[in-house]
Amino acid sequence: MLLPIKIWGDPILKKKAQAVDRLTPADKKLIQDMFETMDAADGAGLAAPQVGVSKRIFVFRIGEERHALINPKITLRSGEVEGEEGCLSIPGVQGRVKRAKRVIVSGRDQFNKQVSFELEDGEDMGRAATCVQHEIDHLDGLMYLERAEPKSISWLIEAVDDKGEDDIILRRVSRDDILAAYKARKLPPDVHILDMLRERVERKSGK
Ligand code: NI
Repeated sequence: MLLPIKIWGDPILKKKAQAVDRLTPADKKLIQDMFETMDAADGAGLAAPQVGVSKRIFVFRIGEERHALINPKITLRSGEVEGEEGCLSIPGVQGRVKRAKRVIVSGRDQFNKQVSFELEDGEDMGRAATCVQHEIDHLDGLMYLERAEPKSISWLIEAVDDKGEDDIILRRVSRDDILAAYKARKLPPDVHILDMLRERVERKSGK
């Protein structure tokens, strides 16, 4: 089942999520639905608060594989990497964030088994280390734009290149202007954003 994604400005995204004591059938169903929703929205990861559940659960990809982590803890961080990030809860926007290049993260999986991943951004794993840090921030009520280099924050704008092909260009914007646009529920009309998410942003009733 596809779950509606909460958009920036929703108070649940600012809350610290609760640890999961015992994995219930409802939690397992939630994880399946989060996998489905992440795929449908073409996301690299998705945290439970983004679908309205304030629990320490997230899903993510390593290449083609999908994984879930419950009560995740990063036990080692090393190196540094800086890259563009985006978020399904702030669609149409990107910004540069500094993260640890390599992390070891452990927790339980959707079968309640203790698991641990050693992740490093690079050719083999894509940006799995960055992704896990971004998702754990969601569990702590933190959005990546709060960590992003202010001058790097941009709208993703649909454009046409000189060969007449569809293109995406960046339009610099301040974090405050993005928040104002979200609060007013009015994004620039040429922002590149999935229709399913634009509907959620621009719906007047909000929730
Ligand atoms: Ni996100």
